[in-house]
Amino acid sequence: MSEQTIALVSGANKGIGYEIALGLGRLGWSVGVGARDGTRREAAVAKLRAEGVDAFGVPLDVTDDASVTAAAELIDGRAGHLDVLVNNAGVTGGMPQDPIGADLDTVRTAVETNVLGVIRLTNAMLPLLRRSGSPRIVNMSSTVGSLMRQSTPGAQTGPISVAYAPSKTFLNAVTLQYAKQLSDTNILINAGCPGFCATDLNGFRGVRTPEQGAAIAIRLATLPDDGPTGGFFDDDGVVPW
Ligand SMILES: NC(=O)c1ccc[n+]([C@@H]2O[C@H](COP(=O)([O-])OP(=O)(O)OC[C@H]3O[C@@H](n4cnc5c(N)ncnc54)[C@H](OP(=O)(O)O)[C@@H]3O)[C@@H](O)[C@H]2O)c1
Repeated sequence: MSEQTIALVSGANKGIGYEIALGLGRLGWSVGVGARDGTRREAAVAKLRAEGVDAFGVPLDVTDDASVTAAAELIDGRAGHLDVLVNNAGVTGGMPQDPIGADLDTVRTAVETNVLGVIRLTNAMLPLLRRSGSPRIVNMSSTVGSLMRQSTPGAQTGPISVAYAPSKTFLNAVTLQYAKQLSDTNILINAGCPGFCATDLNGFRGVRTPEQGAAIAIRLATLPDDGPTGGFFDDDGVVPW
């Protein structure tokens, strides 16, 4: 069984997730590239290896129980433990998302991936995380999920969205509940916002690079043992709930 630091990043085949995998790999960590599409996953693993990263592919669809169970078994068999889980996989559910006349399937899709997917994957990985000396869980959220910002006139909160933004509010609430239940353990769990980054998620309209977006996840993945838990952060510090 390996003593190397092991991380799993969901949705690591592209965008911010790929850059998180690259950043963690550059620390000398072994990084599981969680991705649902085999071709995209293996292409990302090959690209990361070409960058010198000890990357390995983890077939993973966070909406699928069997897939998530198999991912935990793969990491257990490979390393026997997990040090860091980055719940990065996310979808908008499709736009536009006006509440009036909303397509409920759009809401279901966003919640299924962005919230239930995180709960599913976290619970599958917790037994492996409990075997780590310094386990960390990072949930990639968004400031559009901040109710404080959403209710502040003039704040930058993206388009009106009945699915995506509330799914991140839900994720923030879930993060807090995990932090409370894990408060007597050494597991630190936090939510992070990457900022508005140019990726497929927003048709590459973001103004930051995916690499810049990955920085907060890498910071939360490498928190010291006395670091915060149950918080919500971006590059500027604490984000209001
Ligand atoms: N970009 C931004 O401005 C921004 C801002 C705030 C927060 N975020 C958050 O940051 C995270 C990464 O977003 P991104 O901008 O990098 O988006 P992206 O480029 O669209 O990447 C999303 C990743 O999630 C994967 N994914 C989606 N559904 C999945 C599922 N069911 N199982 C496994 N993987 C799945 C995608 O895989 P496929 O390639 O197979 O689709 C892809 O790898 C998301 O949680 C997003 O909400 C992004």
